[in-house]
Amino acid sequence: MSVHKKARRITTHVLKNMKLNGEKIAMLTAYDYSTAKIIDKAGIDVILVGDSAANVMAGYDSTLPITLDEMIYHAKSVVRAVERALVITDLPFGTYQGNSKLALASAIRIMKETGSHAIKMEGGAEIKESILRILSAGIPVMGHLGLLPQSIYKFGTYVVRARSKEESDKLLEDAHILEETGCFGIVLEKIPAELAKQVASEIKIPIIGIGAGNGVDGQVLVIHDILGITQEFSPRFLRRYHNLDAEITGAVKNYIKDVRSINFPNEKEQY
Ligand code: KIV
Repeated sequence: MSVHKKARRITTHVLKNMKLNGEKIAMLTAYDYSTAKIIDKAGIDVILVGDSAANVMAGYDSTLPITLDEMIYHAKSVVRAVERALVITDLPFGTYQGNSKLALASAIRIMKETGSHAIKMEGGAEIKESILRILSAGIPVMGHLGLLPQSIYKFGTYVVRARSKEESDKLLEDAHILEETGCFGIVLEKIPAELAKQVASEIKIPIIGIGAGNGVDGQVLVIHDILGITQEFSPRFLRRYHNLDAEITGAVKNYIKDVRSINFPNEKEQY
């Protein structure tokens, strides 16, 4: 039987064995109880309470404004719903960069107040000290390299990263640093597929891609994007599995029509 089918709960150890066994890891974001319950029951391996909540839940145009308290609210709601998946929560912008003591305090708040199983942080060598301090408290850390939405104002655009030799060498070096430091996995966002494949073969910990091709150990996407709730976001790497925008619009229009025509509620729908 495959590793993930045998596992009653997905742990970082299970993810490592999935990679060893050549089983791909399926990861999606969730930010609320009801969605997390559905995707956990559907068999998703990993749920990321991503700081993309800033975009899809709060309507900001970057991930920078979301606060630690807001991430904790989302993560608590998700954890209450989940019975099997591993739940990873993003440390938001401004809660770990440049200060390893602050990083540990932020990570401890997430673990203590939400019940998440791990945290994720963006960056390589420059956040090594923070990662080490968090790991010393027994908190599992997932890294994130390539396109780093929390550094969008440094790069200025959301184009594909690590196309140049200099940038791809730095990314490879950072991936090795994250592995040696003790991260249990790494997300690679929007980088050339060949480079992502090279990282996944050189590095022993699971590599999860988003816009990084299929030569990695698993994939992650934002739930609102795959369900077609967000329509304005349409990068090449996104596959839409549903068109909920149209479905919800149709349902709401029917409801409005029924209310206006006094078709709702009918006799069976009243006391
Ligand atoms: O916040 C998020 O949703 C993420 C994924 C895009 C990997 O970090």
